[in-house]
Amino acid sequence: MAHYKLAFLGFGNVGKALAGLLIRKRLELEHEYDLTFSVTGITTSRHGQAVNLDGIDLEQALKVSDFSNLSKSPSESDVYQFIDQTNADVLFENTPVNYQTGQPAVDHLKYALERNMHAITANKGPVAHAYRMLTDLASQKERKFYFESTVMDGAPIFSLFRDTLPAARLRSFRGILNSTTNMILTRMEQGESFDQAVSYCQKIGIAETDPSGDVDGWDAAVKVAVLVNVLMDFRLKPEDVDRQGIREITQDDVSRALKDGKRWKLVCTAVRDGERIRTKVAPEMVTSNSILYTVDGTSSIVIFETDVLSSLSIVEANPSPHTTAYGLLADFLNAVKS
Ligand SMILES: NC(=O)c1ccc[n+]([C@@H]2O[C@H](COP(=O)([O-])OP(=O)(O)OC[C@H]3O[C@@H](n4cnc5c(N)ncnc54)[C@H](OP(=O)(O)O)[C@@H]3O)[C@@H](O)[C@H]2O)c1
Repeated sequence: MAHYKLAFLGFGNVGKALAGLLIRKRLELEHEYDLTFSVTGITTSRHGQAVNLDGIDLEQALKVSDFSNLSKSPSESDVYQFIDQTNADVLFENTPVNYQTGQPAVDHLKYALERNMHAITANKGPVAHAYRMLTDLASQKERKFYFESTVMDGAPIFSLFRDTLPAARLRSFRGILNSTTNMILTRMEQGESFDQAVSYCQKIGIAETDPSGDVDGWDAAVKVAVLVNVLMDFRLKPEDVDRQGIREITQDDVSRALKDGKRWKLVCTAVRDGERIRTKVAPEMVTSNSILYTVDGTSSIVIFETDVLSSLSIVEANPSPHTTAYGLLADFLNAVKS
């Protein structure tokens, strides 16, 4: 039976949901996948750090607010020392996204790969900014850099193209990839102002105190860059995406559209155009015969057009950190299987 040592860099909503899922699936992994695991390290920004090569008690980790008490290692160390100390086989990197550079996560993932760990993340920054470098390094080290949860949470997007669509060439995609703006627009259809809808999203924990990453289209642009870099084999930075957010859309615009049988959506597109790829994030009024019309609240959708399958859609309804955690678990199992 194979045993894997796991390290968690970041233990917020997603890290905790992954810990819960690992606890729930422990016996299934042992019996059906012939593997066991232990968590040898957890580090955070303000809630301390734990390193224990005998395995941290995960149930306990979900209860405490300071991880230092679970540590066998006496002192706090920086992230690089932490990665070394865990002696892990797999690093799960789940820290907040940096839209502009992907740092410091890029350097942390690189360091883990250099130490022969599989590197798995839900953080889209490193994929948008350093996909090629991290993937090449993983390949040199015969390890995996996987990131299924970066776009549409646990829905299979990257593994779909990697494992089940051989020789399919992606020509274009179109979709709704940002849950927060879709929820804001849905709430505005129910009569709320833009500010009220943003406050609601902050209250339920899907919008930051500063919501600009979502409402100005940055999160969507980063996801477009991730899909283009990985699935279209084209180097594109988030700032290269033609980007417009939803700040200009008023409650009147939304109500008028509804009366005409239409809905405003923040739509992401990428289209291959000879040697170029044209990309855009912008609000669009969609009609009821568009599949985008049916996507409500925090749900998301992507429609792929390939040279072999003319239109293939994936819809994810009501995502949560638990669905994100599943993408990370799937990446772990796929990484160690290969
Ligand atoms: N939430 C979702 O459903 C979802 C879905 C898809 C993708 N993602 C992505 O997943 C990642 C994590 O999201 P989340 O919701 O779990 O965020 P979160 O709740 O804010 O948790 C982030 C964690 O990272 C830690 N951290 C921050 N900077 C650090 C540093 N320099 N070194 C070590 N630890 C650091 C934080 O420490 P403290 O605990 O001390 O603050 C916290 O534990 C993000 O990149 C996000 O975009 C999230």
